[in-house]
Amino acid sequence: MQRFDKPIPREASASLKYDGRLETFGTADVMPMWVADMDFAAPDAVVAALQARANHPIYGYSMPPESLYQALIDWLLAKHQWQVAREWIVLTPGVAPSLNLVVAALTAENAGVIVQPPVYFPFLSVAANQQRRLIENPLVLQDDGVGNLHYQMDLLQLDACAKDASLLMLCSPHNPVGRVWLKEELLALLAIAKKHGLIILADEIHADLVYDNAQHHALSRLAFEDLASSTAAPHPIVTAVSPSKTFNIPGLSLSALIVPDAAYRQAIQTHLNKLAVSVTNPFSMIAFEAAYRGGSEWLNALMAYLQTTRDEAMAFIHAHLPKIHAICPQGGYLLWLDCRQLNLDDEALALFFVREAKLGLSSGAIFGRGGEGFMRMNIGTPKANVMAALERLKAALG
Ligand SMILES: Cc1ncc(COP(=O)(O)O)c(C=O)c1O
Repeated sequence: MQRFDKPIPREASASLKYDGRLETFGTADVMPMWVADMDFAAPDAVVAALQARANHPIYGYSMPPESLYQALIDWLLAKHQWQVAREWIVLTPGVAPSLNLVVAALTAENAGVIVQPPVYFPFLSVAANQQRRLIENPLVLQDDGVGNLHYQMDLLQLDACAKDASLLMLCSPHNPVGRVWLKEELLALLAIAKKHGLIILADEIHADLVYDNAQHHALSRLAFEDLASSTAAPHPIVTAVSPSKTFNIPGLSLSALIVPDAAYRQAIQTHLNKLAVSVTNPFSMIAFEAAYRGGSEWLNALMAYLQTTRDEAMAFIHAHLPKIHAICPQGGYLLWLDCRQLNLDDEALALFFVREAKLGLSSGAIFGRGGEGFMRMNIGTPKANVMAALERLKAALG
C-alpha cells in the first residue's frame, strides 16, 4: 500500500470539502470531489515542524524569518530555473486575495481586466470587486478529430482585447482545464502584452503539480530571458506562487507575490498597508518554509501517484462512460469532464451528479463562459475513491 492510498477520515475536522457538503449540495450523502485540496497527509517534514512549533506554548504575532524567503528563492531556482531576488518577494495571506490586491493596486478605476474563461471562478469577480471592467477572452476547445479535446488561448482575440485593457490575469497552469502552457504560447502572449503595455498577473499556484511530458515555464523568467539581449526594462509581470496546492497546506493561507518592478512593489505594499494586512501567523510560516525545504521527495511521489490515478480514470471514462469526455490534465489534480452529450442544463446536470450519482463535484458553469455542460472532479484523493466515484457515475448513467 502506498502512503497516498491510506484513507484519512476528514469528517468533523472543520473541513470545507467534507463538513461543507450539506450546505453546498443540500445533502452530506455525496462523495466530496469539489474544493481544491487533497485528502492526503502533508509531507512529514511539514507535520514535524508544525508539531515542534505547537510545543512552544506562546502563539504571538510572528515575523517571517529571512530563511523563509531563502527557502522560496531556492525552490524557484531548483524547480523552475527562476532566479528571484529577495527584494522582489511580497508575502500575502493567500493567492485569491492577492488577485484582488494586485488589480486594485496597479490599475485605475474602470480599467479593463482580461480573463480567459472557463477559469478559476474568483478570477471572474475581481473586476467587479474592484470597480474595474471585465473583458473575457474565452479559451478555445479544439477537437483533434479522434475524440481528443484540447484547450488553447485565442491569441488573435487576445490582441484585440488588449487594446482596451490594462491588465491580463493569466492562470498558468490553467484551472479548471488542466493546461500547462507551452513556451511558444507564453512568448506569444508576452509579445501581445508588450505591444499594448498590458500588465500581466500570472497565477502560478499550480506550477509544481505538472505531469510527465509537460513543463511549466515561469512567465517572469521567460520575460527576463527575452530581454537578455536588450537594455530595456523587463515587461511588468506580477506572479503569485504558494506552497499551498503543492504540499496540500491551503488552509494555512500563506503565499507570495514576486514583483520585480520596484514601483509596482511599492504600490502593492502601500495597498496592503492601507488595509492593515500583514503576515503574522506562526504556523503558516513554519509550514511554508518546511514544505519548500523538505517536501521535494513527497512531491515526486505525489505526482507519480496522481499520474497513475489520472491515467486509470481517463481509461475508465473512455471505456465505460461513452457520453462523458474527460480533458486529460497536463497539470493539477482536477479532471474537467465534458458532459454536454447528456443534454442537461446546468441545474439538471448538477442535480444528476448529486442525486443520482451521489457525487459532489464543482459545476462547470461557475467557471464562466465555456464551462456550461462541464463538471470538475477533484482526483486528489486515494485512487480507490476516484475509481469508486467513476463506478457510481457509470451506475447512475447505466
Ligand atoms: C488558480 C488558483 N488560484 C488561487 C487559488 C486559491 O489560492 P489561495 O487558497 O491561496 O487563496 C486556487 C485554489 O483552488 C486556484 O486554483
